[in-house]
Amino acid sequence: MEKISIGIIGSGGIARGAHLPNYQKMDQVDILAVADINLETAKRAGEEYDVPHIFTDYEELLKIEEIDAVSICTPNAFHASPSIAALQMGKHVLCEKPMAVNAQEGGAMVEAAKEANKILQIGLASRFTPQSEYLKGVIESGRLGEIYYGRAVSMRRRGIPSWGVFIRKDMSGGGTLYDIGVHAIDHVIWLMGAPKPVSAFGAAMTKFGHRHDVINSWGPWDVENFDVDDFAAGSVRFENGALLTIESAWASNIEDIGGSFILGTDGGVHVIGDKVYEQRNGKLAETPLQLPSGGSGHQIEIERFIEAIRNDLPSPVDPEEVLNVQKIMDAIYQSSETEQSVAIG
Ligand SMILES: NC(=O)c1ccc[n+]([C@@H]2O[C@H](COP(=O)([O-])OP(=O)(O)OC[C@H]3O[C@@H](n4cnc5c(N)ncnc54)[C@H](O)[C@@H]3O)[C@@H](O)[C@H]2O)c1
Repeated sequence: MEKISIGIIGSGGIARGAHLPNYQKMDQVDILAVADINLETAKRAGEEYDVPHIFTDYEELLKIEEIDAVSICTPNAFHASPSIAALQMGKHVLCEKPMAVNAQEGGAMVEAAKEANKILQIGLASRFTPQSEYLKGVIESGRLGEIYYGRAVSMRRRGIPSWGVFIRKDMSGGGTLYDIGVHAIDHVIWLMGAPKPVSAFGAAMTKFGHRHDVINSWGPWDVENFDVDDFAAGSVRFENGALLTIESAWASNIEDIGGSFILGTDGGVHVIGDKVYEQRNGKLAETPLQLPSGGSGHQIEIERFIEAIRNDLPSPVDPEEVLNVQKIMDAIYQSSETEQSVAIG
């Protein structure tokens, strides 16, 4: 089996929690270098995972010819530039979500991948749980009939990130919608068969982030520098006539809710669920699904990335689909400002 060498750009929470440990577990996969603008952070990751090359400038990492692929684990505002630079240097890219801070950047990433003929995979790990993949198979078999509605929900009672730069627009581009909304939106649209979005209407609000009186599960955050949304909701129409509604919150006065579901003319499913709601043998039935168990979404996401590189397969997460998710999020932010429905081209 051919050895694959990896570089990690950005070595904070997600790099150390998901990318580094999962690459390290794999046969014939070597983590050759880590780059982080914070030298101490890079060194710590390097020591923990026995990585020979440490840099503060990712351009230096990209100069290492043996590196076949990189994981981009930097804040959202630094997804597009290193991804494009890596693709242009002939490396495959696994870039964390959201794809970028706007669809223009996302489009440039897709173009760079096409020109380089390299894999661009976005870190949407929810697609890769064994349960999700099983559900995708059930939906593709046609069992739910025509899929006409999806609901993408990711609501926290109190879960404002108190680390990193998630709450800063200049670094993250958006708040809850880009951080956790993106997972729910992508997951549901992928399960719906990736219909093409044509318009969106919505609103993004800040109701908790500016306040000093809010109790937060993850402790205090930088209230003074909070300038993104902590709640966003909207709806999307698709070319095939289907509708999606979206609700995302870092903080809200309701319990944590993750109730995404999909409705078809012959059956419906919760996205994290184990049954199909349908009519069967002349009765209303809740038919159990034999869901598999297995590795985490992050582990399988990384395994699929390596497998695709090794076997010359297309990206396990079609970047054009993710670009549509980015366009939807952009449209919701735009609609929030204009109070109008926004066409998605
Ligand atoms: N897929 C998931 O479930 C998931 C979970 C958490 C975070 N994320 C995504 O991962 C990304 C990083 O989040 P995190 O929680 O690891 O944040 P973090 O703040 O813990 O880590 C980011 C790291 O990037 C470094 N960095 C910043 N600019 C850089 C640059 N130009 N070059 C090199 N390094 C740079 C920082 O010093 C920091 O160490 C974000 O885009 C976030 O949305 C994804």
